[in-house]
Amino acid sequence: MKRALGAAARDVAAYIRTLDENLSEPPLNAGAAVPAAAAPLQAPSPAPLPAPAASAAPAAAVAAEDIALLAEKVKNCRRCGLGIARLNAVFGVGTYKARVVFVGEGPGFQEDHEGEPFVGRSGQLLDKILETVLGLKRSDVYIANIVKCHPMKSPETPEAHGNDRPPTPEEISACRPYLDEQLRFIKPACIVTLGSVATKVLLGIDKGISTVRGHWYDYPVELFGPGHPIKVLPTYHPAALLRNPNLKRDTWEDMKMLKEFLEKPV
Ligand code: URA
Repeated sequence: MKRALGAAARDVAAYIRTLDENLSEPPLNAGAAVPAAAAPLQAPSPAPLPAPAASAAPAAAVAAEDIALLAEKVKNCRRCGLGIARLNAVFGVGTYKARVVFVGEGPGFQEDHEGEPFVGRSGQLLDKILETVLGLKRSDVYIANIVKCHPMKSPETPEAHGNDRPPTPEEISACRPYLDEQLRFIKPACIVTLGSVATKVLLGIDKGISTVRGHWYDYPVELFGPGHPIKVLPTYHPAALLRNPNLKRDTWEDMKMLKEFLEKPV
């Protein structure tokens, strides 16, 4: 039995390794519906990856192994220029059993140095929000970004402060399949998009964050087939709260909506 499980896990690992090649291929049509709306920040259609093969191995064990392989792939990724200048790829952090995935824009200086998302000032505020409103730690959820490497104004000086810039549509497009693959493995009930970049990219809309926040949407990519949408709740980016504390009240309201959602029986 143990040997059969081991063989099945190895088969899945080999299958995932073949996805490596697929990442640099033109978009594959894996049957996933892709948002049609054209928005300036919405990257060109992502290249969805095929769903992982069914396996006899226990789901959690396979997910952990598959995610480790994907993380390795991201670590070696050179699909865009960000992969050359970055100090560390910032894959994601948290539990693969998370019911909620928080998605930010991209790593900054501190994240680039530590290889973990949201560890700078914004991250400390995010941790505080998680704890005070939701009673959760970062290890109870999953936290990732739209792009996995630090977009820098001056890539020659990764040690410089004040070097952050938003990711370009090309960088977003290159990195986007990684996030969808993470979501496929984690199978969260919902995503919280932090700020306008993550919201525009994931919902394929071009409206300001203050207009769209505080409402539930369906993730337009059907990762788990028709009729099984992942719910999306946009809210302000913690960096925006640091700049303008008046936005905290709305964010607290959004987090209470999230708490209610997570407390609903499945
Ligand atoms: N801002 C983001 O959007 N992501 C991080 O990981 C850190 C800051």
